[in-house]
Amino acid sequence: MFKGKNVLVMVTGSIAAYKATTLVRLLIKSGAQVRVGMTTSAQEFITSKTLSILSGQDVLTDLFIGHTSQVIHIEWARWADVIFVVPATANIIGKIANGIADDAVSATIIASSADKVIAPAMNDVMFHNPAVERNLEILKQDGWLVVEPVVGYLAEGYEASGRLPEPIDILQQADIRLRAKKGQLIGKKVVITAGGTKEALDPVRYLTNRSSGKMGYALARAAVEKGAEVKLVTTIDRENIFGVEKIIVSSTQEMFDVATHEFTDADIFIGAAAVSDFKPAKLAEHKIKKQADGGLQLTLVQNPDILKTIGFSKKDHQIVVGFAAETKEVIAYGTDKLVKKHADMLITNDVSNSDTGFSSDDNAVTILVPDQLPEALPKTTKIEIARAIITRIITLK
Ligand code: CTP
Repeated sequence: MFKGKNVLVMVTGSIAAYKATTLVRLLIKSGAQVRVGMTTSAQEFITSKTLSILSGQDVLTDLFIGHTSQVIHIEWARWADVIFVVPATANIIGKIANGIADDAVSATIIASSADKVIAPAMNDVMFHNPAVERNLEILKQDGWLVVEPVVGYLAEGYEASGRLPEPIDILQQADIRLRAKKGQLIGKKVVITAGGTKEALDPVRYLTNRSSGKMGYALARAAVEKGAEVKLVTTIDRENIFGVEKIIVSSTQEMFDVATHEFTDADIFIGAAAVSDFKPAKLAEHKIKKQADGGLQLTLVQNPDILKTIGFSKKDHQIVVGFAAETKEVIAYGTDKLVKKHADMLITNDVSNSDTGFSSDDNAVTILVPDQLPEALPKTTKIEIARAIITRIITLK
């Protein structure tokens, strides 16, 4: 989202001003051109020198110093594709909401038509002051993306809401929400399964597989980036993704129960989990002890097929997508599964290749859709593959 973009970071006078340094570094790392503006009170908390060195640019602090040949705030306002106000005080929130432009930061913001993100950080009583709440509401109506403060330890020495989220979380949320603004999945519910299911043998052991859940998480992110409401039914608790509700499950039966329930009012189902086809016929009540003859015979029974059940229950408006992890004859087996499971799309991948297999960050897949030629997506990151799959799903109906 920020790669190649001109991003203006406006820092105001909150104790959290130091976190702007991390935000600037993360933005530069993600490929953005970054400039920084600071209010006078921000400079009480952190020096402009620090941010100037980090951004490699002069920091905007005053409307009337230097740059005599240009109207500096207009030039900066036009340059910006995105403006972050991080951290934002009650004062700057009040000024922007009411059109007051009496310093370099507020004047530049008001002169710009860039996408705008604001992350308030202040004492909890200030944050809940009716005037601040009213001003934030105005900003939301004006199209600002407000990153809400989190509950945490405040400078005053107690836990309350008002704390600035970590810069990485501000960036992730802004990235997802700015993309989602124009998303074709706004108002749609997407249910995704991820990870390998675990089939308990006894209270301490289970049967599972090598799935990392990464592809399912990437699909969840790609779907929220298009504005969807996403329920991720997963056996693996990986990173939090803004807008994705994780429902942690363990066995196939649990995943089946949650996924089929969530699918009833969903628009899209994507089965990215590596589901165990079998489970032990009986769950031992106590830990299984070594056997006298040195071996152990296990009887396994078949698990329900989540994708197939959902494929055969779908209504006309619902789209069902499956995956097929194969080690040989990938397209042939994939096509067979597409038909047998009544899916609208099947994504095949060759898990014999360690470059693109289970725990890898990369993948290479082929998209199969009934009556259409297979479409190969060459090797790239799982998030790029996921974005391409979601874009393709959107074209189905
Ligand atoms: N799947 C499922 N429930 C199962 C088995 C598989 O929902 N009990 C889903 C997977 O999430 C995937 C697709 O079906 O989207 C194909 O999974 P895969 O393991 O490749 O196929 P199987 O149906 O198990 O067939 P086989 O193991 O015989 O190749």
